[in-house]
Amino acid sequence: MEELVERAKAVLNNAYAPYSKFKVAAAVRTKSGRVYTGVNIENASYGLTICAERVAVFKAVSEGDRDIEVVAVYTDTEEPTPPCGACRQVIAEFNPDALIVMASRKKTVVVRLSELLPHAFTRKNLG
Ligand code: THU
Repeated sequence: MEELVERAKAVLNNAYAPYSKFKVAAAVRTKSGRVYTGVNIENASYGLTICAERVAVFKAVSEGDRDIEVVAVYTDTEEPTPPCGACRQVIAEFNPDALIVMASRKKTVVVRLSELLPHAFTRKNLG
């Protein structure tokens, strides 16, 4: 888990956040043991911004590696940053029970996605 946070931390400066100046890094570990990192990428058309977590998840899925087990999020802040609602939904698509590791300069909080997104809407609801 600490190692995954380190992998996220290592790419923090790749974050492209000229508008918010809020850099976020993520690292996803899949069942295969592989790690995929991501950073937030903003756009002058603000709504097109994508979060670090989704970049990391989409990198894994686009490599055919969908069994997401752990998602780490790192910010250089006092308090850890929780994944936004959109990212929670995207992670839930692949594993509603994924482990979410939220780390900052000062602390690390570990929760299950099911605690952050109870009663998730998933493929099961499509009948
Ligand atoms: N952001 C993330 O990348 N992940 C989060 O969990 C929260 C928000 C980004 C989006 C935007 O670039 C910046 O943080 C401020 O909202």
